Amino acid sequence: MTMAKQKSKYDIEKLTELASLTAKLVDEIGDLVKPSVTAMDLENFALEKCQEEGVEPAFLGYEGYKYALCVSVNDEVVHALPTADKVFKVGDVVSVDFGLKLNGYYSDHCRTFPVGKLKPQHQRLLQVGEQAVLNAIKQAKIGNKIGDLSYQMQSTAESADFSVVSTYVGHAIGKKLHESPEIPAIGKPGTGETLQENMVLCIECQVCENSAQLIHDQDGWTTRTVDKGYSVMFEHMVLTTPNGPRILTKLKK
Ligand code: MF3
Ligand code: CO
Repeated sequence: MTMAKQKSKYDIEKLTELASLTAKLVDEIGDLVKPSVTAMDLENFALEKCQEEGVEPAFLGYEGYKYALCVSVNDEVVHALPTADKVFKVGDVVSVDFGLKLNGYYSDHCRTFPVGKLKPQHQRLLQVGEQAVLNAIKQAKIGNKIGDLSYQMQSTAESADFSVVSTYVGHAIGKKLHESPEIPAIGKPGTGETLQENMVLCIECQVCENSAQLIHDQDGWTTRTVDKGYSVMFEHMVLTTPNGPRILTKLKK
């Protein structure tokens, strides 16, 4: 049974709580991202936090994935493994992708963190990557089309002379991690499915400093840029409401 695209009041309550916890944990993980810390340190912290909070890591066991986190550093674009040989150093960009599961509901959230001071070009990449998702979120209004969101991600990245990955897409979320509709990071305004009230959408994109042509590692998961250019990723859970989009993974600080 696939879940209705328009969530019930109860679904929304549960998804809101879980998204909010996920945002808090990703933020805490981000605070650990410093020189000489390893991706495995982040993974261990994430697993501990799941225990403490009584939630399950959503990615662990998902299609055979063996970890709670995806930690994609520099030229790694998505689904990179949080291994101990990944030691952070000044100038790195570290994306932390983390999902939770509780009472049958899922969350999915990603932010990219800088390690110390970045090169100006990478600082700009980070800002543009985040802005691409925020611009798409602004279009998540009832009556708008999926393509309105896609177009924002593509045009924000490309007008800054960066490129956007088209093979990995955003999605709705609920009692499954990936629900329909898909939300590509490239597209044209006015195309695709129409947004309705009470949809919960994962709006995400990966932005690359050079080409968005990708290769896959032997590990079966890690995806990186062919030209070794750096890549960043952001993903938020967003609820469509009559008052406009509400970001469920926003930090309450
Ligand atoms: N946030 C990732 C996505 O939406 C989740 C990946 S699940 C994993 O594709 F198992 F691949 F890690
Ligand atoms: Co996702």
